[in-house]
Amino acid sequence: MTKKDLINKIFLGDCEDVLKEFSDNSFDLIFTSPPYADQRTKTYGGIKPDHYVEWFLPKTAEFKRVLKPTGTFILNIKERVVEGERHTYVIDLIMKMREQGWLWTEEYIWHKKNSYPGKWPNRFRDNWERLIQFNKEKIFNMYQEEVMVPVGDWAKDRLAKLSETDRVRDESRAGSGFGKNVSNWIGRDMVYPTNVLHLATETGNKNHSAVFPSELPNWFIKLFTKPGGVVLDPFVGSGTTAFSALQLGRHFVGIDVNPEYAQLANQRVFAKQIKLPGIAEKKAKYTVSKNEKKGKK
Ligand SMILES: C[S@@+](CC[C@H](N)C(=O)[O-])C[C@H]1O[C@@H](n2cnc3c(N)ncnc32)[C@H](O)[C@@H]1O
Repeated sequence: MTKKDLINKIFLGDCEDVLKEFSDNSFDLIFTSPPYADQRTKTYGGIKPDHYVEWFLPKTAEFKRVLKPTGTFILNIKERVVEGERHTYVIDLIMKMREQGWLWTEEYIWHKKNSYPGKWPNRFRDNWERLIQFNKEKIFNMYQEEVMVPVGDWAKDRLAKLSETDRVRDESRAGSGFGKNVSNWIGRDMVYPTNVLHLATETGNKNHSAVFPSELPNWFIKLFTKPGGVVLDPFVGSGTTAFSALQLGRHFVGIDVNPEYAQLANQRVFAKQIKLPGIAEKKAKYTVSKNEKKGKK
């Protein structure tokens, strides 16, 4: 278990080093958006797409050690275009993580509802990102009822015209095992969501160039943790994941290698903690990890 004095804090340092201070099986959820390959070199140093996997793998090994066997790791990432084609570093990373012992359980799509228009000669504007789910074990904590959605207009149209196949379990013709019995949903107000999340991008200025909307971590925190659970964001940036965890009554640990971002994240969660006394056990502190103190990179 995580020592009490290590949680509800933002750490400054390389996540690979900082996590060495944490025991095995400390976290219920790791939710993060890492620096994308070679993209934001001016703001926080990009990693060349060809070197992305070798850069990331020692970190995912450490994430695996600190994640509980019942926990989940959600990685928000999207491969960039290099010389006219999508680079394969995300696919390569998934393959290598599987060799590390991770299970590639699922993939969610974040559909960005409000992305601005653009024109490219050989593709359309990029309007979605991946959220790749990894687990250590096939059986993990998942609280599906927490993210149910109103059945909506779909029910009025679809359930009014039920066919014969809708009334019996319609086994998937492709043999995928995803059979369905549509009539089961008659009279229900709430249904389970799909694996596509329709969320607007963050437009408020958080003094960070890659902030995701808090609804994104919110959704996964509710789905994979209970109140009191511990959420890690090893690339915490402006602190969105930590902020969400705190707001939902979970504990957090955030890490960023950039002092400005670590401080920004700390300010955000600290301001929130003042408004929500009693939710976090301890006030967040802007903490310099032991490794950082030793001057280790
Ligand atoms: C895509 S941003 C995260 C943005 C965040 N999701 C938010 O909402 O603000 C990635 C962050 O990773 C940090 N970073 C890069 N390399 C790191 C490392 N080795 N360890 C910890 N943080 C790192 C960068 O400084 C940057 O703030």
